[in-house]
Amino acid sequence: MSSLLRNPVARRLLRPAATLIDQRVQRPVSRLRKDMDKAALAGGEAMRKDLAALRAEVAELRTRLYPAELLFERPGAGRNRMPTREEIEQLSQEVAKVSGQHVGFARRNVKGAFRTVIALEALGVGRLAGTTSNVCGKLATVPLLDPPNGEVLEIGTLYGLFSAAFLPMLHRAGVEARLTIVDPLAGDQLQPGATMGSEPTGTPVRMDVLRANLALGGAAGAAARVQQGFSTDPEVREAVSDRAYGVIIVDGDHSAAGVAADLEWAETIAAPGGIVVLDDYGDKNWLGVQEATDRHLAGDTRFEMLGRAATSAFLRARL
Ligand SMILES: C[S@@+](CC[C@H](N)C(=O)[O-])C[C@H]1O[C@@H](n2cnc3c(N)ncnc32)[C@H](O)[C@@H]1O
Repeated sequence: MSSLLRNPVARRLLRPAATLIDQRVQRPVSRLRKDMDKAALAGGEAMRKDLAALRAEVAELRTRLYPAELLFERPGAGRNRMPTREEIEQLSQEVAKVSGQHVGFARRNVKGAFRTVIALEALGVGRLAGTTSNVCGKLATVPLLDPPNGEVLEIGTLYGLFSAAFLPMLHRAGVEARLTIVDPLAGDQLQPGATMGSEPTGTPVRMDVLRANLALGGAAGAAARVQQGFSTDPEVREAVSDRAYGVIIVDGDHSAAGVAADLEWAETIAAPGGIVVLDDYGDKNWLGVQEATDRHLAGDTRFEMLGRAATSAFLRARL
């Protein structure tokens, strides 16, 4: 402090001037504080308004989304078929890898498969079995594997909606398929060694239901040959072992013994270069599928593993 300010006489004389300076500084500061308080109030009000508008918009979107959720609901499953962009992309990468094709073709097929699945589950009776990735993986991959002929055998069809979706997928790739189906059509799904409970859709697994769904697969669906019975029945095998199949879908008895039996049969009826699809390979609910497939491939076989997409494995019969 300067000696002048320490002098009591000088301080008394300077006091009015100091007070004046204080007032000059204080006035703009308090005006600024008031302005800031006003701005904060206005800002808070604006934020409250924005929040209310956003809430109203989300509520409106939820309302508008509900009909879409109805359209994309999985029949009987209580879940929906609304995959994320990431799930479609991952599946496309897997399909590209197993088929050896460009990911652009794989993505096109995955998207086409998805649209077909939604359409058929909306129009069909019963349901397609499997998650969206599982079903679309099978539908998208096989046409890209260029099967050697259009003869298709599906072992285990349930309601036939997979085949009804598979036929147009093959046709889009230029393959006019001829379909053969083997299934006991026993009223409910049969799975030896597993407790299945009754069908979640409430629809019976029956010939008339299967035929109604196959009609949705176009002319090839309507013309499909259906052999009622188990794939292990000698009469069933004899009836449908009259040709070499370009595609065999193994989706019947999921136990290790059942899959092993179907693979042994497939060895005898697959065309050279034919594709065998093992549904639910790697699915932890159906461990028998991978167990039997891996054991089969480790033995003396015409089949070689091409790879996997979602929970399906794809084999090709050597030429
Ligand atoms: C998982 S479901 C098939 C699902 C169907 N492929 C789909 O993608 O929607 C299995 C079907 O195979 C039938 N099945 C069970 N054992 C069989 C066998 N040994 N031969 C043929 N079908 C069998 C079941 O009764 C059931 O209808």
